[in-house]
Amino acid sequence: MSLDVKKIKEMFPIFSNNPSLIYLDTTASALKPKAVISSLNDYYNNYGVNIHRGVYNLSYEATELYEASRRAVAEFINADYEEVIFTKGTTNSLNMLAQSYLFKLKPGDEIITSELEHHSSFLPWLNVSKKTGAKLVFAKLDENGDIDLEYLKKIVNKNTKIIALTYVSNVMGRIQKVKEFVEIAKSVGALTVIDAAQAAGHLKIDVKDLGCDFLAFSGHKMMGPSGIGVLYINKKHHNIVEPFEFGGEMVNYVYKDKAEYREAPIKYEAGTPIIAGAIALKQAVELINEIGFTKIKKHIKKLNEYTLKKLKEIDGVVVYNKSDTGIITFNLEGVHPHDAATIFDNKNICIRAGEHCAQLIVRWLGETATLRASFYIYNSEEDIDKFIETVKEAVRFFKKF
Ligand SMILES: Cc1ncc(COP(=O)(O)O)c(C=O)c1O
Repeated sequence: MSLDVKKIKEMFPIFSNNPSLIYLDTTASALKPKAVISSLNDYYNNYGVNIHRGVYNLSYEATELYEASRRAVAEFINADYEEVIFTKGTTNSLNMLAQSYLFKLKPGDEIITSELEHHSSFLPWLNVSKKTGAKLVFAKLDENGDIDLEYLKKIVNKNTKIIALTYVSNVMGRIQKVKEFVEIAKSVGALTVIDAAQAAGHLKIDVKDLGCDFLAFSGHKMMGPSGIGVLYINKKHHNIVEPFEFGGEMVNYVYKDKAEYREAPIKYEAGTPIIAGAIALKQAVELINEIGFTKIKKHIKKLNEYTLKKLKEIDGVVVYNKSDTGIITFNLEGVHPHDAATIFDNKNICIRAGEHCAQLIVRWLGETATLRASFYIYNSEEDIDKFIETVKEAVRFFKKF
């Protein structure tokens, strides 16, 4: 059975509030379903209290909702409950992790990165490299923009301490062979840090099967609230990875000269957490589970193929990638993407234009900026038809100049 997009659109209040909206920018942020919005409201309307520290029923109940979401997220990525750390998002997760490594790397150590990385998966390691003297080593991309595994095997060595790579690039949209990255890393005792921001809403992440050490993603890219994210820390590191922040609730005993921290996950969540965001993330997880990745993937593949076929029929359109996750990176020949984007905006079609916070891969494509259309469960073929009409119109319009 294919997805009933009309029914799905009804789950998203934005489509009743803005009926002509064609949203093709899920890669930047997914739209939010009613269940997520209601869950946020429910917390603020009926709880509004702090968690973990309250000695009254309302706080116990709110704590239970928060921890129930952690359990749902753990199941979602096949992690153990204590391996799921709530953060502000992928950027926050990866920065916290990189900062904690600042003190563990030294000159001569190597960190493997790639041109495929979003800035939030690259800049934290660039910073670590500058501060510690550890060397950044670039994995090679093949002609499709995938990490070349043979080359990766060649560049790892006993100095490789971290392999920090993306699961799915937000420009190329292709699923990378994370399990193989992990095997290669293990062969030299290096740790793996996986940026799963674009993977979480599109494919089943199974951290046990992958065997990775760390993995990060954001709630807002999988229909959850903005401001909530996840850092998975494999429990074998819980005694090694120190807390990233220090403050309330993460400690058992405090003395004038030392402190004893609580166990994970709480030791990594100092201060009042993003309570409403974490609770509402469970609704996004449940919606994805209810629909299932098989249907999600099938639907997105169909839209992707349909769009590519139509785009190919238009002279003056360059498509740069062959995505597995409904991301089409393209340009209109001779037209700056920002100029082209205004034509789409005039039609209430949201697409992305620019360098996508991933300058290295945009440059690898030989460009300084591109357009990007991305699809999710609430997009239909009619959306694509309107998008294609607008592409044609934009091509005609800019030909005149
Ligand atoms: C591949 C990838 N990694 C990381 C991020 C950063 O996510 P956030 O801005 O939610 O922290 C993004 C956001 O676009 C992304 O696409």
